[in-house]
Amino acid sequence: MSIKFPIYLDHNATTPVDERVLEAMLPYFTEKFGNAASRNHAFGWEAEKGVDLAREQMADLIGADPKEIIWTSGSTESNNLAIKGAATMYARKGKHIITAEHEHKATLDPCKRLEKEGYEVTYLDPPLDGVITADMVKEAIREDTVLVSLMWANNEIGTINEIPEIGKICKEKGIVFHTDATQMVGKLPIDVEEAGVDLLSASGHKFYGPKGVGCLYVRRRRPRIRLTAIIDGGGHERGMRSGTLNVTGIVGMGAAAALCKAEMSDDAIRLGNLRNKLEQTITDQLDGVAINGRLDKRIPHTSNISFAWVEGESLMMAIKEIAVSSGSACTSASLEPSYVLKSLGVGDDLAHSSLRFGLGRKTTEEEIDYTAQKVVEGVKKLRELSPLYEMHLEGIDLSTVEWADH
Ligand SMILES: Cc1ncc(COP(=O)(O)O)c(C=O)c1O
Repeated sequence: MSIKFPIYLDHNATTPVDERVLEAMLPYFTEKFGNAASRNHAFGWEAEKGVDLAREQMADLIGADPKEIIWTSGSTESNNLAIKGAATMYARKGKHIITAEHEHKATLDPCKRLEKEGYEVTYLDPPLDGVITADMVKEAIREDTVLVSLMWANNEIGTINEIPEIGKICKEKGIVFHTDATQMVGKLPIDVEEAGVDLLSASGHKFYGPKGVGCLYVRRRRPRIRLTAIIDGGGHERGMRSGTLNVTGIVGMGAAAALCKAEMSDDAIRLGNLRNKLEQTITDQLDGVAINGRLDKRIPHTSNISFAWVEGESLMMAIKEIAVSSGSACTSASLEPSYVLKSLGVGDDLAHSSLRFGLGRKTTEEEIDYTAQKVVEGVKKLRELSPLYEMHLEGIDLSTVEWADH
């Protein structure tokens, strides 16, 4: 099979809409165009039927009850609603929140906003392997802790936090537990009951659904979680998120969820094998390569690799026909090294030289073989030009070099 260029290996940033998802959505743009809140006629009922099915499909993917799904515009909004909504609702109990330094900005920024409003936030410092453990959370819990917000899987390095164990501790202490599961949903099995999660964010475009639609799971029983709304209006979504529903988007996200439920286990095995092959081929042929994050606790389609003595942006130029990301997609416009890698304690040199490979449903073995070869060639070529690499070959320990300061 011939390779189609450019090769897309940035599925953590976004995924294409699956053709079967698009097919499910199309009628809702035209003949089924009704407003799901129109209770008085068939157009409204038809749209509502589509939304109800999607609610069931989404709930089924994460082990929830359909009534517990609140539709939003995506995970940024879901995180904002979860964090600000819970912190405000439960402020009487306390004003302390726990999160971690390597969370997505869509979690960190709502927390920073709350700090300005008098809340206190503990940012857990992740270990080098990137995994937040239940013990770390336990140690940070205080009398006045009302909310723990920790992502299920990290968007840059793919590591998986100890979510069920953390859920158990939060439950024991009566603390609301939110998880940003944007990168986990549809990739590996999730059960909100088993994991003791109270609030969970998901986004359609990360699992082959459309952009601009997401949801927040809000637990209704044991215990019933209440949130202060951020968007007020017509009282849609149990009053937690007003605004006419994005029916086409919601139908698409539901269809995407159903496909993931059916195909996720095969995809996970296939992509895990391809990801391992990519890493193996690269590490076999290059020295000075580090795979970031704990290897045995990662989502299967993600690999974040640092290449010593090479600059990440230059390497991206050297493999132009392959779409990958260096640093996190939302901040890669700047040349700052990734704050996620820095928070793990990865040195500036290695944080600067990292690439994230995100495999997806349509990724082929040919594409992975080609990518591995191109990366190896690119790194070798850049190192030939690098005085730092030459010094390394001469046996000079670069960490002991005293650089002239001009
Ligand atoms: C972990 C994580 N949280 C939140 C978001 C934001 O999601 P959305 O694009 O749906 O607003 C992303 C997307 O980059 C993400 O990876």
